[in-house]
Amino acid sequence: MSEIRVGLVGVGNCASALVQGVEYYRNVDDEANCIGLRHLYVGGYHPRDIKFVCAFDIASGKVGRDLSEAIFAEPNNTLKFADVPRLGVEVLKGPVLDGIGNYTKRTIKVDPSMEVDVAESLRKSGAEVLVNLLPSGAQRASQYYAEESLKAGCAFINATPTIIASDKDWIRRYVESKLPIVGDDLTDQVGATFLHKVLLETLNRRGVRIFRTYQLDVGGGTESAETLERSGEIKRKIKTESVTSVLPYKASVVAGSTDYVEFLKNSRDSYFWIEGTYFGGAPLQMDIRLSTIDAPNAGSILLDVIRGVKIALDRGDAGHILPISAYAFKHPLKIIPLLEADEGFEEYIMGG
Ligand SMILES: NC(=O)c1ccc[n+]([C@@H]2O[C@H](COP(=O)([O-])OP(=O)(O)OC[C@H]3O[C@@H](n4cnc5c(N)ncnc54)[C@H](O)[C@@H]3O)[C@@H](O)[C@H]2O)c1
Repeated sequence: MSEIRVGLVGVGNCASALVQGVEYYRNVDDEANCIGLRHLYVGGYHPRDIKFVCAFDIASGKVGRDLSEAIFAEPNNTLKFADVPRLGVEVLKGPVLDGIGNYTKRTIKVDPSMEVDVAESLRKSGAEVLVNLLPSGAQRASQYYAEESLKAGCAFINATPTIIASDKDWIRRYVESKLPIVGDDLTDQVGATFLHKVLLETLNRRGVRIFRTYQLDVGGGTESAETLERSGEIKRKIKTESVTSVLPYKASVVAGSTDYVEFLKNSRDSYFWIEGTYFGGAPLQMDIRLSTIDAPNAGSILLDVIRGVKIALDRGDAGHILPISAYAFKHPLKIIPLLEADEGFEEYIMGG
């Protein structure tokens, strides 16, 4: 297969897990041994076919360094699970815009170097897919990179909750440019929203009536601080809509209140509480805690999405690619039930 030339926006924890993941699975050829991956191959593409060709950030300590070093620079604090050789990709300085909030101001110093011309840098690098991994509060910056991606002729993957890939105007512009776009707000491999949906869907199928349920989480990465400070409302809206979609009746659902506990680093504890009733009106209550590390939770899905988008490019598919977005994001253009979304993705990558 040909290589997949990828640009990264934001060299934070998620980017670290993604870049490490390509190295970690590089030499795995046996499907039975690809533990932690949903797909070893997607339409014939292996994770090692992904080649990072450019990266943008604003933080001093990341800008100007090789991507292999920048992914481990502070304040990144996720798990190190792979050694990454020098990649020959220098992290370039992009415009700051609204990239820094009040909390991150204390932990991120803006690099004093000159901003590059992002579209020109993308063109020069030969990037064909741009992955947006900016902080969730950086809405203007996310829109700016979607614009530069269009100018440079790159497909766009929006992992952030800024509404871009599910916005009709952006979709029209990507259709006109004959480029695919997917998003918004990446779903985790075993994240709180996924688990909450699976629990409610299963209980509902077994005749349990849910009255009330919530999902709250605490984490220590900069992204948790961002959510607390700037993007809590939009995250809560997206998560609540996504979770509510699995119940065929009205219930009180709150999903996605986040708090920040610095010493947790990139770990995340998610708490679920469910109250309902079953046979004969008997009461049911459920209390669950899920503990994960945030960034690796995005790795498997991102590897699938990048390869799915490459397939869209190979086929000349443009605009919002629903089978990819519904499978991998919390806010696609249309929310599709979990199993149907999984099947839709499999069909798409098989050529359906
Ligand atoms: N499991 C997950 O980690 C997960 C799941 C779903 C969605 N997401 C989304 O992915 C995004 C990234 O998450 P993360 O944990 O890696 O965040 P992070 O805070 O660790 O990384 C963000 C990076 O963006 C950089 N940045 C800030 N402003 C910039 C600008 N203007 N230009 C270029 N770079 C800039 C920061 O310096 C930092 O390196 C978030 O929007 C998050 O909501 C993550």
